[in-house]
Amino acid sequence: VDRGVIMPGDRWDFDILAPDYDRHSVRSIPDLEASRIAIARCAPAFLRTGARVYELGSATGRLAAHVLAAQPDTRFEYIGIDASPRMSARAGHRLHRDPRFTARTGPIQTLRFKPAELVLAHYTLHFLGPETRHALLRRIHDSLRPGGALVLYEKVLDPDPARQDAITAGHVQYKRAAGFELHQIRNKRRLLEGVLQPWTRIENERALRAAGFTDVTRLPQRLGFEGYLARRAPIEETGTPHRP
Ligand SMILES: C[S@@+](CC[C@H](N)C(=O)[O-])C[C@H]1O[C@@H](n2cnc3c(N)ncnc32)[C@H](O)[C@@H]1O
Repeated sequence: VDRGVIMPGDRWDFDILAPDYDRHSVRSIPDLEASRIAIARCAPAFLRTGARVYELGSATGRLAAHVLAAQPDTRFEYIGIDASPRMSARAGHRLHRDPRFTARTGPIQTLRFKPAELVLAHYTLHFLGPETRHALLRRIHDSLRPGGALVLYEKVLDPDPARQDAITAGHVQYKRAAGFELHQIRNKRRLLEGVLQPWTRIENERALRAAGFTDVTRLPQRLGFEGYLARRAPIEETGTPHRP
């Protein structure tokens, strides 16, 4: 039985999925490993010596491993937070040799952020309800240093039902090619109903702007999964005040 497709108690539980997460996740989310690598390639633009990065929903630490490996000689602090104790334990084990990494267990919605240069939320915020998500986006923005960034990846909904059907069909094909049976795909969809709450691209971009991000760039979409690079405005260059 592939965990994440049949769940004891018939409810979605990442802690139960943890031992199978690495294998399961790449078979479920198109180009998951490619977006982790893309994030790791962009991260050095924000992470100098002394910087701090938070990853919200760090799971087994695969994204963290890429980001840390991309800058082996830069001393920054990487804090990975996950609500699942078994995910956090796995992340801690994966990266136990890297003193820059700390795995924390707990809910991201009550996290007390210290000032940070970069916040990563790679397929995590869509598990939060709308009010909680808006409030967290504001707190992320306010915790970023000027010029710092949030990299947000989310499952997104197309507002046009026919286009959304085509994208869903493409995603089902992706999972079938990755080895899932149709009944497994249907069961997972049922387990995630009301748990994973995707917004449209417009809703995501509006929420980011409402949180204070003035500079939002979209990253490539793959069958209903897409990313945003949202920067906090740098401090305005004031120059010499003009005196009459
Ligand atoms: C799809 S996985 C994240 C993938 C990961 N960033 C990666 O690149 O592999 C979502 C993770 O978010 C965690 N999560 C979901 N809701 C959370 C919350 N409210 N607080 C903390 N972690 C949460 C889950 O336990 C799970 O490990």
